[in-house]
Amino acid sequence: MKPEVLLVGTMLPMVVSELESTYVLHHHENPDDPSGLAEDVRGRVRALVTYGAVGARRPVLEVLPKLEIVACFAVGTDAVDVAHCRGRGIPVTNTPDVLTDCVADMALALLLAVQRRIVAGDSYVRQGRWLEANMPLSRRIGRHRAGIFGMGRIGQAVARRLLPFGCEVHYCGPNAKPELPYTYHRDLASMAAAVDFLLLTCPGGAATRHAVDRRVLDALGPRGTLINVSRGSVVDEAALVAALSEGRLGQAGLDVFADEPRVPEALLGLDNVVLQPHAGSGTVETREAMGRLVLDNLAAHFAGRPLLTPV
Ligand code: GLV
Repeated sequence: MKPEVLLVGTMLPMVVSELESTYVLHHHENPDDPSGLAEDVRGRVRALVTYGAVGARRPVLEVLPKLEIVACFAVGTDAVDVAHCRGRGIPVTNTPDVLTDCVADMALALLLAVQRRIVAGDSYVRQGRWLEANMPLSRRIGRHRAGIFGMGRIGQAVARRLLPFGCEVHYCGPNAKPELPYTYHRDLASMAAAVDFLLLTCPGGAATRHAVDRRVLDALGPRGTLINVSRGSVVDEAALVAALSEGRLGQAGLDVFADEPRVPEALLGLDNVVLQPHAGSGTVETREAMGRLVLDNLAAHFAGRPLLTPV
């Protein structure tokens, strides 16, 4: 008998087709509301697969008495009620490592795009404005100070990419990592005051919610650049919009937002921001590797082997 699996939200077609061939697959849209999920299905589901931004929360988890594993297609599991799963002894898996390089690349791409005004320059050429005048000058990346909030795998990959540009790397997080050749700050606002670029690579969730508030943004200042490839929840978005609009913060490159896929209207009108649709890991190669890891974790679970990437 094939195990029954519940897919919450949408998923990469390659993952869906392998889930369909290996398991009895059920679909459900709303991670907060189990209504619509048939009673008999609720009682048979043994695994839940979800996309990072969708997650799985208590109301859905609670109606699945036979649930044995939650496999999350993302490194960040902040949208999954991990505490509830732990309480029931249900392991949660994520997709670390395979996405580190692409997310770090996105941080650098946003930093380059913002500093060198790549998007504005593209419009400048397309609109024929270059025929009238040279574009205003941009600012370099090199030999600036960069502060990374969250020196985990992705933060370290961002740091490695910044070094060849000649940047001085600072970082902030719960613990100093003396093995790393970078300057540690315990306090985020102090680090923001000491750097030109603040790059967010920390996990989302309660511990980092609104860590970047007005005080941090003001410390970064009118020449400062904020890059966010972690979670929208890390930034007080209203304070960010105000700081960018009022010129208290120089510029921002944002891949993530508080209420995706909705982006504050005010940001859309600002030319000191570059926006991306939460696409850090969004390359064909990385998404396929993430999908493979989701499938391999499920296969390991049902074969009684150790999970590859439990959180
Ligand atoms: C993407 O945001 C992830 O957590 O993998």
